[in-house]
Amino acid sequence: MPESQLLAGRTAVVTGAAGGIGAALATELGARGMSVVLADIDAEGVQRTAVELRARGMRVIGVEVDVSDPDSVAALADTSLAEFGSIELLCNNAGVLLFGAVADASIGDWRWLASVNVEGMLNCLHAFLPAMRAASGWRHVMNTASTHAFLPDTAHTALYSATKHAVLGISLGLRPELADDGIGVTVLCPGQAATGILDSQRNRPETFGRRGAEPFGTGVIPMAIAPEEVARLAVEGILTAEPIVFALPEYTRDQFRDQVEQLWRLADDALGHPGDPYPESAGSRPAAGA
Ligand SMILES: NC(=O)c1ccc[n+]([C@@H]2O[C@H](COP(=O)([O-])OP(=O)(O)OC[C@H]3O[C@@H](n4cnc5c(N)ncnc54)[C@H](O)[C@@H]3O)[C@@H](O)[C@H]2O)c1
Repeated sequence: MPESQLLAGRTAVVTGAAGGIGAALATELGARGMSVVLADIDAEGVQRTAVELRARGMRVIGVEVDVSDPDSVAALADTSLAEFGSIELLCNNAGVLLFGAVADASIGDWRWLASVNVEGMLNCLHAFLPAMRAASGWRHVMNTASTHAFLPDTAHTALYSATKHAVLGISLGLRPELADDGIGVTVLCPGQAATGILDSQRNRPETFGRRGAEPFGTGVIPMAIAPEEVARLAVEGILTAEPIVFALPEYTRDQFRDQVEQLWRLADDALGHPGDPYPESAGSRPAAGA
């Protein structure tokens, strides 16, 4: 079937769809003829977005869900299947960001990040995959990681980065697992998108303890890529079953490449590889014992 016809008439579930990248994904998929379940912990926000998309002629519903809660996710799966009959595309996109040094972070900080970013994805996989695997035809899973899945890009993002390492690792492992069922898996790695991500703690339940201060404010990241562009690249990648899709502002690409090379250099140094693929970088390596 031509790529342009893969989506029309099928159904997608998008978590974290009240705003930001999730709402843009839902809009892109709806515009391509998919029915879409918009799911988010922000009950008002997700209904508002669903109403907007319905006014544009799209077939969508908004559902409140807490992806960190397996019962809430099971209810989302029941509602989605009852409404649309089958799910062909699962976009595990809900995520939260918290800045802070590892040594200063509370266990509550870590648990909140991990429960939404990692367990949230696993809860949705466990709730939706059985029916998706039992079905036939085109089916796909997309998990939203980050460019932080490779290395933290400031001294303040190690915990968030660790959750996104997990999303990347689980997604790359899941891809061959689901290949036999004919289900594709793509991991989306955005970098600096213009969304509400800096204000993630607006959705932090009190059970995870104190709300840490936000060292960089809670506004939209300046000079960031538009969520609509992230969504367009993501959907193109889904259609061509890419393993990884990057969506980051042009001006940050060299910096990101440097980070990936740093990771490679760490491994290469540790392995004592005789052929250094980055000889010009030797001078920048820390002296022994530094
Ligand atoms: N914006 C960026 O620069 C950027 C970069 C890389 C990766 N990402 C990732 O993109 C994804 C979307 O984030 P965004 O940038 O659109 O931010 P956003 O804050 O606009 O959207 C995240 C959505 O997730 C929802 N959410 C939070 N906790 C939830 C929970 N427990 N259950 C269900 N929904 C919940 C929020 O209500 C919100 O609508 C996240 O996984 C994020 O980590 C964003």
